[in-house]
Amino acid sequence: MTENNPILQTERLIIRPVEDSDIDFVYKAFSNPKVTKFLTVSYPDLEATKEQMEWYKHLKNKKLGYWWVICDKNSEKKLGACGFSNHQKNHQKTEAGYWLLPENWGKGYIAEAFGEICKYAFENLSLNRIECIIEPENSNSKKIMDKLNFQLEGRLRQAEKVDDDFVDIEYYSLLKQDFH
Ligand SMILES: CC(C)(COP(=O)(O)OP(=O)(O)OC[C@H]1O[C@@H](n2cnc3c(N)ncnc32)[C@H](O)[C@@H]1OP(=O)(O)O)[C@@H](O)C(=O)NCCC(=O)NCCS
Repeated sequence: MTENNPILQTERLIIRPVEDSDIDFVYKAFSNPKVTKFLTVSYPDLEATKEQMEWYKHLKNKKLGYWWVICDKNSEKKLGACGFSNHQKNHQKTEAGYWLLPENWGKGYIAEAFGEICKYAFENLSLNRIECIIEPENSNSKKIMDKLNFQLEGRLRQAEKVDDDFVDIEYYSLLKQDFH
């Protein structure tokens, strides 16, 4: 068990810290356009994916966030990942992210895994607020927000540039007081 980034379990899943040796799995996700369609990064090869692995380490070393790999409890197969970044200690808040390889979509895995790390964060990381930033067209992700009781706070128009296009983003949040 690693400080602030322990192994967690749910009914169907083992949720354990991301390790350097997960790079092949991370590359598989970040080179798949279905996964990266609404993410801010993608990687063309394993070499470039090292940047993502460095980012996970940087977050942890600086206590800016923690990421977990989501695995099937029985087969130990890696399904996806979820975690936090951009911790702001003074405001007791963080930003969340999550993804699954497409073959694992539609089985409720993210609601289960992400719900568990939110619980962990509220109970153990002194957090009061978890934010999610979602593109309005990402309907699958918005359903996760509904399932976990995140509240839509507003839409920032053309707040990000993806390739040559400006895109809107929506802010969602979950507060400790509303978590159940
Ligand atoms: C967003 C994401 C993590 C959802 O995870 P999930 O575990 O599949 O979520 P759920 O099983 O609860 O399904 C959510 C919705 O996806 C849709 N869905 C289900 N199976 C699907 C499939 N095979 N293909 C496409 N969409 C599907 C359904 O509308 C479902 O809603 P429902 O449960 O009301 O029927 C997943 O779609 C993903 O990895 N997307 C790419 C990465 C991403 O966008 N991350 C979020 C960035 S903000």
